[in-house]
Amino acid sequence: MNDTNKETIKKKNIDFFSKNFRYKDSIEKIDTYKILYNEITEIIKNTDRLLDIGHGGTFDYDTTAVNTIVGLDLDKMIETQSIPKNVHLEIGSALDVPNKLINFDKVLFVMLIHHLVGKNVDENLENLSKCIYQCKKTLSKNGELIIVESCVPKWFYSIEKLLFKPTSYFINKFMKHPPAFQFTKEIIFENLIKNGFKEVKIRKIKQGKFILQYGIKFPTILTPVETVIFSAKI
Ligand SMILES: C[S@@+](CC[C@H](N)C(=O)[O-])C[C@H]1O[C@@H](n2cnc3c(N)ncnc32)[C@H](O)[C@@H]1O
Repeated sequence: MNDTNKETIKKKNIDFFSKNFRYKDSIEKIDTYKILYNEITEIIKNTDRLLDIGHGGTFDYDTTAVNTIVGLDLDKMIETQSIPKNVHLEIGSALDVPNKLINFDKVLFVMLIHHLVGKNVDENLENLSKCIYQCKKTLSKNGELIIVESCVPKWFYSIEKLLFKPTSYFINKFMKHPPAFQFTKEIIFENLIKNGFKEVKIRKIKQGKFILQYGIKFPTILTPVETVIFSAKI
């Protein structure tokens, strides 16, 4: 992907998610994300140092359950005066994580991976591998990566692959929301193994009646997506 395309995707992500109170409000009110809030809080509670990559200013979990949180995103995404005292923000990419971010007990990606799009499906797969590889250097010796992601079944993935180029062109041109690409849970699982993670576990989360697709509230029953939590040890 050339630098102009990378900048376009980055700008679309920042323009859509930064200080997006409607998005934040949807995350707080829609049932699927309320379920996720409780699930994620349970997983991260009592963690000393947490790195939340692609936090979007949303932090869909109880931030008081963790000692220190560092949030990494393409921009600050939220007014610094409105964040909890134990949260510190850093600017950077999941694809090139700043080298100073080390010694985390847990690294969290919540609904990040489907945003790491390139100009074609091969680049999307490369970016998936890159962000998993990059987060390894941030984890402490017994650290754990937690991925909360919207995945699609294999039949849908085959269609999505075929349509990725025209749909991402259309979305880039006409929609405020940045283009996205969802993987199957099997692809993410295999990528974690390929990158040397151990004890990789997958759990499908019960979804509520509604879910966000391209930032729009959708009846869950009308979408093929499944919400999955992966955990993997270094
Ligand atoms: C769907 S939002 C998720 C926000 C939050 N984690 C949540 O669950 O509500 C995706 C976030 O990923 C961020 N993002 C996209 N590409 C990124 C990259 N290369 N590096 C870091 N963050 C990125 C976007 O800026 C956005 O804040």
